[in-house]
Amino acid sequence: MKCFLLFVLAIGLGLSAANSVTSYNYYRLPTALRPQKYYLRILTLLENPNELRFAGTVKIIIEALENTRNITLHSKALNIDESRITLRQISGDGKKSNCVSSTSVNPVHDFYILNTCDELLAGNVYKLSLPFSGNLSRDLFGYYRSSYKDPETNVTHWLSATQFEPTSARKAFPCYDEPGYKASFVITLGHHKELTGLSNMPVKETRPHESLPNYIWCEFQESVPMSTYLVAYSVNDFSHKPSTLPNGAHFRTWARPNAIDQCDFAAEFGPKVLQYYEQFFGTKFPLPKIDQLAVPDFAAGAMENWGLVIYRESTLLFSPTRSSLADKQDLAEVIAHELAHQWFGNLVTMKWWTDLWLNEGFATYVAGLGVDNVHPEWQSKDRGSLSALLASFRMDALVSSHPISRPIQMATDIEESFDAISYQKGSSVLRMMHLFLGEESFRSGLKSYLELYAYKNAEQDNLWESLTQAAHQDGALPKNYEIKTIMDSWTLQTGYPMVNVSRDYAAGTARLSQERYLYNTQIPRAQRAECWWLPLSYTTQSENDFNQTMPKAWMECSRTGESIPVTIQDLPGCDQWVIFNNQLAAPFKVNYDGQNWKLLIETLNSDKFESIHVINRAQILDDVLFFAWTGEQDYETALQVTEYLERERDLLPWKSAFNNLKLLNRILRQTPSFGFFKRFIAKILTPIYNDLGGMNDTFSSIQHQDQILLKTMVVNWACQYQVEDCVPQAQTYFRRWRSEANPDENNPVPINLRAIVYCAAIRYGSDDDWDFLWSRFKNSNVGSEKQTILGTLGCSREVWILQRYLEMAFNPKGHIRRQESSLCFHAVASGQVGFLLAKKYLIDNVELIHKYYYPQTRSMSRLLSAISEQVIRRSDLNAFRAFANNSRQYLKGIQQAMKQNLEIMLTNVQWMDRNYHQVSHIIQQHV
Ligand code: BES
Ligand code: ZN
Repeated sequence: MKCFLLFVLAIGLGLSAANSVTSYNYYRLPTALRPQKYYLRILTLLENPNELRFAGTVKIIIEALENTRNITLHSKALNIDESRITLRQISGDGKKSNCVSSTSVNPVHDFYILNTCDELLAGNVYKLSLPFSGNLSRDLFGYYRSSYKDPETNVTHWLSATQFEPTSARKAFPCYDEPGYKASFVITLGHHKELTGLSNMPVKETRPHESLPNYIWCEFQESVPMSTYLVAYSVNDFSHKPSTLPNGAHFRTWARPNAIDQCDFAAEFGPKVLQYYEQFFGTKFPLPKIDQLAVPDFAAGAMENWGLVIYRESTLLFSPTRSSLADKQDLAEVIAHELAHQWFGNLVTMKWWTDLWLNEGFATYVAGLGVDNVHPEWQSKDRGSLSALLASFRMDALVSSHPISRPIQMATDIEESFDAISYQKGSSVLRMMHLFLGEESFRSGLKSYLELYAYKNAEQDNLWESLTQAAHQDGALPKNYEIKTIMDSWTLQTGYPMVNVSRDYAAGTARLSQERYLYNTQIPRAQRAECWWLPLSYTTQSENDFNQTMPKAWMECSRTGESIPVTIQDLPGCDQWVIFNNQLAAPFKVNYDGQNWKLLIETLNSDKFESIHVINRAQILDDVLFFAWTGEQDYETALQVTEYLERERDLLPWKSAFNNLKLLNRILRQTPSFGFFKRFIAKILTPIYNDLGGMNDTFSSIQHQDQILLKTMVVNWACQYQVEDCVPQAQTYFRRWRSEANPDENNPVPINLRAIVYCAAIRYGSDDDWDFLWSRFKNSNVGSEKQTILGTLGCSREVWILQRYLEMAFNPKGHIRRQESSLCFHAVASGQVGFLLAKKYLIDNVELIHKYYYPQTRSMSRLLSAISEQVIRRSDLNAFRAFANNSRQYLKGIQQAMKQNLEIMLTNVQWMDRNYHQVSHIIQQHV
């Protein structure tokens, strides 16, 4: 409502005060004009490290949709040479010259406003030419600088790259920097002839620069219509590895010359997954080429620029001897994600950032399908789905969470939307739809949506229409159901429900009701009475069919949004369990009556536990541990469920369990009861640790690849809890490495155990061990290896070492790149000693940290999560609240994250009040 008023006010001002347009103070661009095409020419100067600059001209072909006396576009941190601005009418009645009478800026909204000599008239087309220049920025946004050192010559090589999403194209050239303003781009890059210029499209022609010796102009083909945030270019001295798509699109993978041998995996995987998408979406990749580029300094993990996808080195480059299986799978996931965007995001783009989830949720979900298709032996699909579900259950249980479709009230809200809700919850509700519609309708709905909105913008309602049509055609959805009705309850409403199942064993029925699940136990019932449309799949002990993920029934909402309870018939008697939500097909939690829990516990703790589907075993663990946390179940029940893990040998249930036990660990390790908790963990962990061969290098004999991940996860916990010989073995491995003559070349530590070995060695090791590992970091040429090391250097328990590490992490002149500092902070903050130091460091240095990240302050939100999980006392919560309050000016870009983290701290405090004594008592009985 507030937003709407502001809008009306802004439009009103715009109209009534046409000649003092600077009073237009709404953050969206006025809508009188529309860009059709950009001719963008940029000269990049990389020779003098003290003067890394660019200069260019943008000519924009603009169509007037309404009469207007000003051209308002975005520009930020650019010098615009006003004396050389030209404006001309190029089509429409009475062609004539026009001019710019004056200019002004609105620095709050990054507007550059040109007042025209004559009114621009609706229907006419104009050509505006703007000369601009700027420094290659240092902050990894806009058109920015990056560098690397040649290890042989020790010479620093400079390169340039872009990162525009969401709102940094305006820092590189003046433009209509909103996703709805699609236009085609003709880009020409000027650069030294020894360097390579890359952009979205293939090179059309190159010619010598008219005045600069040894410089060339490289013109690229005209692009298809696209949003500004997807424009990209780079000037560099990289090498590339070519690969081909069967249909002819050229596919190249670029990296600095010294890392080119790490491109093989990406060069092979990329085209395969792209080809899969062409089949899946039923539309060809529309550009003639695609490049993927590994840039040493890169803020995000990766960015899907159309035809020129940019990555961090650690998310594109793979070394068979230095990257683990998890690294490899992660990078496949990233590549698949960015390539999925070529359709979802690039071809069809959200109208406005409100629907960012249409980009990110889709890319996340579809990436899972893509990776699974190319590497079925990884069995990654269920793992990815479960990760997304677990992440969204966690964040979305907060009152301070937000709907998937997120209203944007101001520009800074955009950045904050790139979070677990857009990605993981978005992906989970798409999976739900895929499963309740079935393969055919889902695919054909998507295909017609992509065809209808190709090269255009869409909002979620457009997708709902396409899917409803497809589903009704195929009979996959009852005619009286609309996808919009169902999905609005998931995307416009915050949170997710807990379904209460109450069985009548004599009548063979179960009555189901729903309410929102919340962590904060002080929120009264009345505020939880919300309603979601729930596809209900279920199975019984005797039926045992978890494969049926199509709903047998629906739980509906009334017109006024109240939940209508349902009763399910034909259920068995009191000797058989019922499980709802086969394979976690929809993102909700299920609580049962006591008898049903008892039956589940019996089966889980018997040799029949595998009769329950592996995803449902993960579901049951996550649900019962959540419920115990907030009092819907007692910890006795939760621990009886958890104990079955002694039998469990599958990855997913363990993942779900660790995810929850980690939180208990972070609290209990600060209390006198930790000794019992440690024994409990050791008890459930020891059998599987031994079964998997403990620290021994058994990897080559492991058949199923997910057992490798399982072993890594189990051993990691085992070392943290000093189970069996884990720590001494880790130290032995590390000592062996240290005694190598050339440790940078030869590393005897099994690749999939390295993170664990390093961490244990550093935790129980000497100053020299730390220095040794730090040297390996400095000497490493492999991104993922560097990340692994940075993540483990924080495992120390020495105050001075940790303090030094924190300071190194935020030193812009040090060895740690800006994009890695949050990883280091996290590593320190996750430790028991480090937590206290990191918390203090953040509080004392918030101004410095803010400056360090500015303008990408979103990174600061990552610092908060490791801290908040460990704040458990009211006094500490109050102190943190006071800090948040006093430092507001430094926390501007992370208001949402701060709120969420304060809420997590509050729920920890509540947990201590409600559960601590009960848990200490019960755990003693289970060790
Ligand atoms: N579109 C994003 C890049 C991005 C992220 C831009 C945040 C602006 C802000 C890209 O597709 C993406 O999602 N990257 C992820 C990695 C991905 C595999 C989950 C990232 O950068 O974390
Ligand atoms: Zn993405």
